[in-house]
Amino acid sequence: MSLKDYATLAAKPENSGLTFGELYEISEDIPVNPSTNPTIGDVFAQRMGRRTMLGGLLAGTAIATVAPQLVQAQTPAPFGFKEIAHGVDERHHVAEGYDADVLLRWGDALFADSPVFDPATLTGAQQERLFGYNCDYVGMAPLPGSNDTSARALLCVNHEYTSPELMFRGVMTADGKPDMSKMTKNVVDVELAAHGGSIVEIAKGANGKWIYVRNSGFNRRITATTPMRLSGPAAGHDRLKTAADQTGRAVFGTINNCAGGMTPWGTYLMAEENFHGYFGGKLADGHKETANHRRYGVPGGWYNWAAFYDRFDLAKEPNEPNRFGWIVEVDPHDPTSTPIKRTALGRSKHEGAESIVARDGRVVVYSGDDERFEYAFKFVTSGRFNPNDRAANMNLLDSGTLYVAKFNADGSGEWMPMTFGTGALTTANGFASQADVLIEARRAADVMGATKLDRPEDFEPNRRTGKVYLTLTNNSNRKADQVDAVNPRAENNWGQVVEFAEADGDFAATRFRWELLVVCGDPAKPDVKAKYNAATTANGWFACPDNLAIDPAGRLWVGTDQGGAWKSASGTADGVYAVETEGPGRGTSKMFFRVPVGAEICGLSFTSDGRAMTVAVQHPGTDGAKEYAPFGRLPTFDDPPTRWPDFQANMPPRPSVVMVTKRDGGNIGG
Ligand code: FEO
Ligand code: CA
Ligand code: CA
Repeated sequence: MSLKDYATLAAKPENSGLTFGELYEISEDIPVNPSTNPTIGDVFAQRMGRRTMLGGLLAGTAIATVAPQLVQAQTPAPFGFKEIAHGVDERHHVAEGYDADVLLRWGDALFADSPVFDPATLTGAQQERLFGYNCDYVGMAPLPGSNDTSARALLCVNHEYTSPELMFRGVMTADGKPDMSKMTKNVVDVELAAHGGSIVEIAKGANGKWIYVRNSGFNRRITATTPMRLSGPAAGHDRLKTAADQTGRAVFGTINNCAGGMTPWGTYLMAEENFHGYFGGKLADGHKETANHRRYGVPGGWYNWAAFYDRFDLAKEPNEPNRFGWIVEVDPHDPTSTPIKRTALGRSKHEGAESIVARDGRVVVYSGDDERFEYAFKFVTSGRFNPNDRAANMNLLDSGTLYVAKFNADGSGEWMPMTFGTGALTTANGFASQADVLIEARRAADVMGATKLDRPEDFEPNRRTGKVYLTLTNNSNRKADQVDAVNPRAENNWGQVVEFAEADGDFAATRFRWELLVVCGDPAKPDVKAKYNAATTANGWFACPDNLAIDPAGRLWVGTDQGGAWKSASGTADGVYAVETEGPGRGTSKMFFRVPVGAEICGLSFTSDGRAMTVAVQHPGTDGAKEYAPFGRLPTFDDPPTRWPDFQANMPPRPSVVMVTKRDGGNIGG
């Protein structure tokens, strides 16, 4: 999306008056998949209730980190908390008997030399020493020598993007669009430094409350300018070379880190999602990257970075976008380590990267490509996880096989290998090497006939039950003649949750069974065609599932992101929902936590004892603020719909990580 396209999008009648954040969201939804892969169309299989059997689950070997392997199939106990009500207001809410305390806010000091945070005078150099903006993924790594996070942990937090309307004074036009003339170099420098991630030591105090440890030697900020390395099959390829990097192996920074994952060896995976939004300028006519960039929506032109940094200007650096859209691996134990972009996992708008050790010791990483009509991927390493030697696992993600999912109407499915020289991945189709397949993973999946999904978001294996879950968040652009078994609704405003059972219970298998665990939306409205267990109440159903987490007992938690459409999708602010997957309660959902107006839920993670849970409250005060009747206008720095969590004059709302604990010290969820 160019600036002109941005203006075109903003000019559409249905988009008039939308804020920058809302347009960002719509842009995320612009379908750019031009392929004509067949849909399953003629067979409408409602898969609710069909059960598949897991077989042959074998005992695993001893492990060094937090139980990364399916040990034996177990049926977790049902949830036992009293659900909260749908609603929307300026605060957050959690189930009775629980506390939800703010742990880390945008601008919190992480280092001894961190400046005092003042958003009105913030500089890029200051922001580099402070907790970043829009916290998304949250993971916990054990400290060196430990395999437990129940008392201390290294919190790994992605900072997905920046919301200029609430970060900076006077940078928006009266109709809520970013005024590029106000996006000065200082604004851009703050934005660059507010992206990326934070690694922060956290500890549980004697009173059972968690705090972050300022000045911990493990604390680190990763930003859009941090030096990184490219590795794997595409590293060093000509298409990854720029004026600043003739090797094609050295890149600055990571952007739009949405969800992520922690590996079995305790490294932190940051998924690069909507990287296209940061690029501006125009490719020379006939440039060989034209079709590739168009397939990924490059340039998005959401920010003014190209005005001050040539690498974000396509006219000057046509290859720079090829250096984003990867999975980045970071070692949280070493704050001086160089983050590595692992090209073997392919280039897409990765929502996340959750992994598990398969029966034979190979490591499997699941990842959704979050855009309308895009794909679900998994990567299986060639090498095997070594539970006794952490260092031996550090390059496992450089070699293996990338697969893309094809779903069949009969509940079966296939993981198709994306290996150059096989099937359609040949020079005849414009792929000259595995590097081309990985750089253009979307087009490779197109020509392979992979199944186009309703915006694949989080994708997570459950090591307790052996199942795997994928959220398809919504797709209002799907037409009636495009529905299929796994995407069963046209104009899907609510999404669905897919459950996989890999063949023979083997996460490395190339075949699977699948069914829809829940079909989201209001089950009381027949035209919505939602499907939940009938025990789900009027407060328990949800729309637009996004983030997932499996708690240590093996229970499923879902966070929602309805964007600016919250009013029409559900009428409630986004929330955390607990969804039963086993037994007679299967498909029952209950609301556990609710965000303040304008926020989405991200960053669900658990300490290894299950007694504390993180929730990231991303972009409070932005999405759909106009639809919130007590406010009903465009949010700005000086006039936000909420000043959560500080509620102090002159302090805008601050994206924050919240720690949830139970007052009696018990397990989260009961
Ligand atoms: Fe950044 Fe797919 O949510
Ligand atoms: Ca997300
Ligand atoms: Ca999302």
